[in-house]
Amino acid sequence: MESEAYAVETLVLKITEGSERAIEIAADLLKKGELVAFPTETVYGLGAIATNEKAVQKIFTVKGRPQDNPLIVHVSSIEMALPFVAAPKETFVFLAERYWPGPLTLVVEHTGVLPKIVTAGLSTAAIRMPAHPVALQLIETAGEPIVAPSANRSGRPSPTRAEHVLDDLGGEIAAIIDAGPTQIGIESTVLLLTTSPPRILRPGAITKSDLEKCLGVEIVEDLLPPDTNHLTPIAPGTKYRHYAPQLPIFLFSEEAHVIAKAAEDQRMNREKILLLVSATQLPKFRSLFHPRIHIAEVTEATVYEHFRQAEKQGFTQIWIFVDHDIRKRSGLFNRILKAAGVTSVDKTVQGDKSDQRAETL
Ligand code: TXA
Ligand code: MG
Repeated sequence: MESEAYAVETLVLKITEGSERAIEIAADLLKKGELVAFPTETVYGLGAIATNEKAVQKIFTVKGRPQDNPLIVHVSSIEMALPFVAAPKETFVFLAERYWPGPLTLVVEHTGVLPKIVTAGLSTAAIRMPAHPVALQLIETAGEPIVAPSANRSGRPSPTRAEHVLDDLGGEIAAIIDAGPTQIGIESTVLLLTTSPPRILRPGAITKSDLEKCLGVEIVEDLLPPDTNHLTPIAPGTKYRHYAPQLPIFLFSEEAHVIAKAAEDQRMNREKILLLVSATQLPKFRSLFHPRIHIAEVTEATVYEHFRQAEKQGFTQIWIFVDHDIRKRSGLFNRILKAAGVTSVDKTVQGDKSDQRAETL
């Protein structure tokens, strides 16, 4: 078992006031070829030095990540990224100057100097400069780019707290730098620059309209991965079911459907249900169902935390009421659809079968 091969005691490095010592220890471990989880402004990442193929391979092993899913190269300056960027260089620099450090990953034609394992053999590479001071200091101190997928076991919700990382990977990685909860809560926007027009492969905090305003061109956004449209997948990671808790998730677009299902549940199943809704819907659903059904607000910053907490607190089902507000927030909406394993909200409402959730994505 991989878990035995890499069994170690995971060192927890807490960032309080003076973070230098913790970061030095973490950078040393990275340089020795170990894996270190660290905070970014989006989610916690699982880091390895990008040029150390053996260390990068460990990432795939401990996460259980398919080998054909490439990694994001994290840099602490635009200069650090340039040796990897073949084209389009100008747009790359223009966007990096505007949005870095920040939650925007740029996918470009690479120059061939990165190990194949990082790019999964593709001609493109994904690069970003994170905005979290700890992440930046870690890359600076290591003196080299760091590859970092989200620090969850493959398929699980991304970690927004150090405890989430320890729950998934504790005992299998050398260390984690704990700097408290991450700010944004969902992963970076992934923007493909090798197509014309550019294409958002994964929506995030930097939106289609932000990028359109900045570039002055129209941008294509796939709310769901292109492979669901029978195109060749261009973001390899998007073809796998993602971000999912171990509980069934049911999505609803109409209040009447929630009421009908709640009535049916009361007669038949008596599940322990967590109902997630946008802020504006809270009072209405509380007055309808409280206290039999637990109701909470869902946002980008809390969606993965809710998924993980629901498991821990013994909920048996998660229901999400997807209103106009949630649909407009493409990053949040995308993660909800992917966690439920469906391509549209109405599919779960009509079908209402948990096996339907598992068949795609
Ligand atoms: O916010 C984030 O981006 C976090 C933090 C830790 O930086 N990282 C993250 O990494 O979400 P990961 O590995 O969980 O997701 C990276 C996504 C995957 O869907 C992957 O397929 C895609 O980026 N990707 C990586 N390289 C690519 C490439 N060359 N072409 C297209 N997609 C690529
Ligand atoms: Mg991930």
